[in-house]
Formats: sequence, structure tokens, C-alpha cells
Amino acid sequence: MTLMDIIQYGHPILRKKCEKVTDFDAIPKLIGDMFDTMYEEEGIGLAANQVGVDLNLMIIDVSHTEETDEIHTLINGEIIDSWGESIFEEGCLSIPEVRLEVKRPEFIKLKYQTINGDKKEDEFSGLLGRAIQHEIDHLNGVFIVDRVSPLVRMQVKKQLKEIEKESNMKKRSINRKESFVL
Ligand code: CO
Repeated sequence: MTLMDIIQYGHPILRKKCEKVTDFDAIPKLIGDMFDTMYEEEGIGLAANQVGVDLNLMIIDVSHTEETDEIHTLINGEIIDSWGESIFEEGCLSIPEVRLEVKRPEFIKLKYQTINGDKKEDEFSGLLGRAIQHEIDHLNGVFIVDRVSPLVRMQVKKQLKEIEKESNMKKRSINRKESFVL
């Protein structure tokens, strides 16, 4: 079991559109490590850039809701249609302790690839549909704080600054360690 560090708000990899997966042979180990990390952190979804990997890949497990007992690995996902509307409180492993009510479409149609590279198109709704939209946002550099009103964003501004500060400190300490390798 390999646990990866969850990248926190403030790191630039969480603000960019992730690269497409082209080498499907290279990803099984990453996916396994991501599931280990997500379960350890008690999340229901995780995007690859949240563990510092610049690839359009997400994992989701909402089996505790009994909607489904499937676990999901969705690669090169792209929402090609959406309709309806729902409001739901979301948290995020990259923004600890912040929970926000986010308005999103209730239904989405997603184009994606499976772990074998097979191309698929499916419709999703409910908690699974919402988790997919949250992770797709990550893979496009978007956070839940971008999806709320300026007023609500103001209310969490201080918390965001603190997370950002810690995130920058971590980056510096990693760089310092690397500078010892001569
Ligand atoms: Co998140």
C-alpha cells in the first residue's frame, strides 16, 4: 500500500488543465495508489492532479450510498452534455474543513475512457454524477470556491489563505531537501 500526499489549494498543478492519458500501460500502479490514498483520507473521489500527477484521470467510490457497488476509474473524461439542476454541500480533500453548497447540473453525459483505453459515453446523476463533476473541475483547474457567489467566497477567504500558506511552506521544504542531492 502506497499513500500519496494530497496536494493542497495554492499549488499550481491544481490550477491547470491536465494532460490526456496516452500510455494506458503506465497507469494501473498510479490508480492503485490513488485508491489507497483516497480511502485513507476518507474521500469518495480523487483527481490525479490532487496527488501531483498531471493526467486526466479520476477515481470515485460512492458504494457506501448503495446507489451502486461499482468503483469507478474514469480517464480522459469530458462532459459533453448536462441538464437539470441541484444544490448539494461539497467538501474537498485539497481544501480541508471547507464545505460549500454548490449548484450543478443534476444530469451529465460523459465521454471517457476505461482503464483499458476503451472509449465510452454514459449518463450520470445523483451523488456519482456530482462527484464526477467535482473531479472534472479539478482536472480543469477549477475548485468548489470558484463555483459559489463572491459573498460566500469572501467568507472562506481567510481559511483559503491559511491553506495556501501551508501549501507554499511544504513546497519550500521539499525544494530544500532536493538541494542536498549534489
Ligand atoms: Co476536491
